[in-house]
Amino acid sequence: MDSSSPRSSGPASFLTQTDAFLRKNLVFQIRNRKLTIRIIIYPVIICVLLSVLQWAINSELDSPKYKCGCRCVDTNGNGSCENVCGIQYSTSDQADSCAIPNPEEWPALLQVPRPEYRAAEVDFSTFTDLPNKSCRDAQSCPAAVLLTGGNRSLVDSLALDLFTSSSPSNLLNYLSNLSNFITGTDTVTRETEFIEPAFFSGRPVYIVQPECRQNYTLTIPIQIATATFQQELKCIQALPLWCRSSSEINNELFKGYRLGNTEGVINEIMGAYDFLNSNEKSFNVIIWYNSTYKNASMRGTPPALMRVSRSLNVVSNAYLQFVKGADSKMQLEFTKEMPKPANRLSLDFSSLLSALFFQWIVELLFPVMLIYLVYEKQHKLRIMMKMHGLQDGPYWIISYVYFLFLSSAYVLSFVILGSVIGLKFFTLNDYSIQFVFYFTSINLQIVLAFLTAAFFSNVKTAEVIGYLYIFGSSIMAGYLLHFFVEDTSFPGKWLLVMEIIPAFSLYRGLYEFGQYSFNGDQMGTSGMRWGDLNDSLNGMRDVLTIIVIEWLVLLPVAYYLNQGASLGRGISNNPLFSLQCFLMKTPSNQRFNIRRQGSKEVSVDMEKPDIIKERKMVEQLLLEPDTSYAIICDNLKKVYPGKDGNQDKFAVQGLSLALPRGECFGLLGPNGAGKTTFINMMIGLIAPTSGNAFVRGFNIQNDMDKIYSSMSVCPQNDMLWEMLTGREHLLFYGRLKNLKGSALMLTVEESLKSVNLFHGGVADKQVKKYSGGMKRRLSVAISLIGDPEVVYMDEPSTGLDPASRKKLWNVLKHAKQNRATILTTHSMEEAEFLCDRLGIFVDGSLQCIGNPRELKARYGESYIFTMTTSPDDEQEVENLVFTVSPNAKKIYQISGTQKFELPKQEVRIADVFSAVGNFKSKVSVRAWGLADTTMEDVFIKVAKRAELFDKLS
Ligand SMILES: *[C@@H]1O[C@H](CO)[C@@H](O)[C@H](O)[C@H]1NC(C)=O
Ligand SMILES: *[C@@H]1O[C@H](CO)[C@@H](O)[C@H](O)[C@H]1NC(C)=O
Ligand SMILES: *[C@@H]1O[C@H](CO)[C@@H](O)[C@H](O)[C@H]1NC(C)=O
Ligand SMILES: *[C@@H]1O[C@H](CO)[C@@H](O)[C@H](O)[C@H]1NC(C)=O
Repeated sequence: MDSSSPRSSGPASFLTQTDAFLRKNLVFQIRNRKLTIRIIIYPVIICVLLSVLQWAINSELDSPKYKCGCRCVDTNGNGSCENVCGIQYSTSDQADSCAIPNPEEWPALLQVPRPEYRAAEVDFSTFTDLPNKSCRDAQSCPAAVLLTGGNRSLVDSLALDLFTSSSPSNLLNYLSNLSNFITGTDTVTRETEFIEPAFFSGRPVYIVQPECRQNYTLTIPIQIATATFQQELKCIQALPLWCRSSSEINNELFKGYRLGNTEGVINEIMGAYDFLNSNEKSFNVIIWYNSTYKNASMRGTPPALMRVSRSLNVVSNAYLQFVKGADSKMQLEFTKEMPKPANRLSLDFSSLLSALFFQWIVELLFPVMLIYLVYEKQHKLRIMMKMHGLQDGPYWIISYVYFLFLSSAYVLSFVILGSVIGLKFFTLNDYSIQFVFYFTSINLQIVLAFLTAAFFSNVKTAEVIGYLYIFGSSIMAGYLLHFFVEDTSFPGKWLLVMEIIPAFSLYRGLYEFGQYSFNGDQMGTSGMRWGDLNDSLNGMRDVLTIIVIEWLVLLPVAYYLNQGASLGRGISNNPLFSLQCFLMKTPSNQRFNIRRQGSKEVSVDMEKPDIIKERKMVEQLLLEPDTSYAIICDNLKKVYPGKDGNQDKFAVQGLSLALPRGECFGLLGPNGAGKTTFINMMIGLIAPTSGNAFVRGFNIQNDMDKIYSSMSVCPQNDMLWEMLTGREHLLFYGRLKNLKGSALMLTVEESLKSVNLFHGGVADKQVKKYSGGMKRRLSVAISLIGDPEVVYMDEPSTGLDPASRKKLWNVLKHAKQNRATILTTHSMEEAEFLCDRLGIFVDGSLQCIGNPRELKARYGESYIFTMTTSPDDEQEVENLVFTVSPNAKKIYQISGTQKFELPKQEVRIADVFSAVGNFKSKVSVRAWGLADTTMEDVFIKVAKRAELFDKLS
């Protein structure tokens, strides 16, 4: 064995493979750093953008416009003023941030319909005692109150006591005075800084009475803190109306609703009571009141006061008077909010807006991983690595860990940057929850990338689909899912179903972080803590559960699909194909068997002695194995089932071949003859339909993994990483072949030199800068590294210029010792130069086998005679040829040049020479020649004969 090219010491261990693959990936990543940097820059830009916006918002909120108003007030009355801040000095924008240590007391008010909407006599109304509609213009309609109950006489007595009839007087202390009356307002409640809007709206405050005798309007002074207002008071008549039942009340209220009725007739009622089964001993009541806040069910809307306390007081007081007599009284003095501290207005933009942005950022790695995986698949690098002995285990683990590392670094830098910049989204939420969430999410994303990669074989498509997915899904999440999450009435289980889509669960998690940090920021508390996972509205726990379960389920699925795809058995684009194969197996085999019976008889008839001899040899070797034979093919067949009613295509029909070590076998054949199918079967890309082959005793059906460790391929198309250099390729494949240390360096150097890629720094240039010929030579070098015992070369010299081709041949000639080589080629010259034996392969079967000389002798039964004269003398040349060889055949004629085939048995070369000598003295001959048959002639002849046979059969 050649000491300069050490044979690898057995198959590479798991660790060695891992090491090789990791090194390759690192180099690849360094080469690819531009893309990596671009990806990392994206979150940086987003974070900076967010923080700039946040800064702008903060500085706006910190401006006096939004700070509690202050004024210089002369508090001691000594002429010097003091700066006093408070709600009374603030505009409505400023009021929000003021402290309210001592909230105002406000009379409890009834919600009264506005005069123009109050109930009057309308078509649909069932009541007879309502006033005419004209009262609306006079603003004097009474406020209707609907009553019902189990005992009408009791209800009637209560109705008399509901509203007091005494008139206001002595209104100096408005509060204690007003609490003697039933007061109401028609203003709408809203979120104000502890100020009852009824008193500042310019609307009157109503005194609700059974009858408005003098219909007065008063103005009373009202003092709030240091300011004094004039407030108009107005009488309004309350009109109790009896209804038969609760449902009648409901019906009436519904019909009169300003927005609810279809006729466009508005008939609003002040309130309604159902006394149920009340009697002297027990008091049961249902109160209808009109809450003007319909949006309190939305998350994040602060709750607002509802004017319900006064209606409860009114009815309780009436009952008390009914039971205890008119002297008894239940007085509601005032209502008062709880105090609140000053707060700095803040609006955390990152929490509010960012679920969408952050989702984009986290998902951005998805297409990157997808592209990486599909690139290796599209360029068949994955298969190539497998053929050089890289097993699925190391490939998966390294790819996975590598992606995990990349994603972690990416997300980590993003979280750290966001925290440093001070985005509340990161700083307020518990970092351990964030860690768990991001970690599980990126794991799921990696599995998803593996899974998706199984369905693509083209980088461009994968790229487009990948980006479409992240933008499409995040926009869907931002609008659709967001909407459903905020709508608390949307069933939670449907949310869970939607969150099965990984993009949605990611969005939901980010959304919850946003909610908690936003509220935490508003209230000055922290964001999400582990304890908050118990909150009923917090979807984080479900999201984490879904992500973990999905990861556990998808990981094996992705592994399985990718394995099928990488093996290429049955093949690669459609991962469902293996399933399809499994389902179709029985019928298609049966059909094949029937056909085979027919075709076998035919093929036996036409078989040549050399083919039969080879077959016998194979049969004998199968009985008595001989280790000096590296490759044995036993009746190998491949049939592609016909589609759309076409006939089945027999790509390879019954190939038997035995190849000893040290032999180079050349497979010749026209395009489409099935040579590549044969090679693909031998290297495990396609499973044979029937028959088997043994490489070093391992069969290709089951032991492909063992075969790979000592086999290598130089594929028809170069399967190379554009980013890596020639040397890096060889180092990687050398390591896979278990070469180490100085032996590896030495081998790589030798190998580079042998294919002439060593000098001039070519070895350290990236492959994308190589010419076609250089790539070809590199592919050959790769296929020879680590001294494999079996090498397949699929047209190794196509597309090379003659000089490079010669160089390559020398390399191959030198390399073929000690190993079995199968070489397909279209160049007869190459075949003759390199191969010990040749086989001509036509229409899926071998037509002949033998060394070049034998073949020429067998098929080359004639000489080729060529002569060029002036076109006028053509006839004479023909005559000459036929006198020398009566059975000659003209095979070519163009403007004076003619070619004839002279059967060998009837001509002697000396006769030809003397005849031509005589002929030249009569006719002027420009050129002439006599040639033995070349391999090319043999090839054409064999191919033609096979074709002819095909037509006949
Ligand atoms: C209805 O209430 C009155 C008191 O107002 C009482 O005298 C009468 O017995 C009650 N009727 C029924 C059927 O309970
Ligand atoms: C309840 O209040 C709303 C808003 O003020 C109003 O549109 C609606 O008509 C009221 N409903 C009834 C039954 O009075
Ligand atoms: C909630 O209701 C108030 C008062 O009716 C209104 O001003 C506010 O815009 C509403 N908010 C939402 C989010 O609908
Ligand atoms: C969540 O609630 C469960 C019971 O409902 C309780 O056992 C558990 O301690 C709670 N977890 C936290 C972190 O509060």
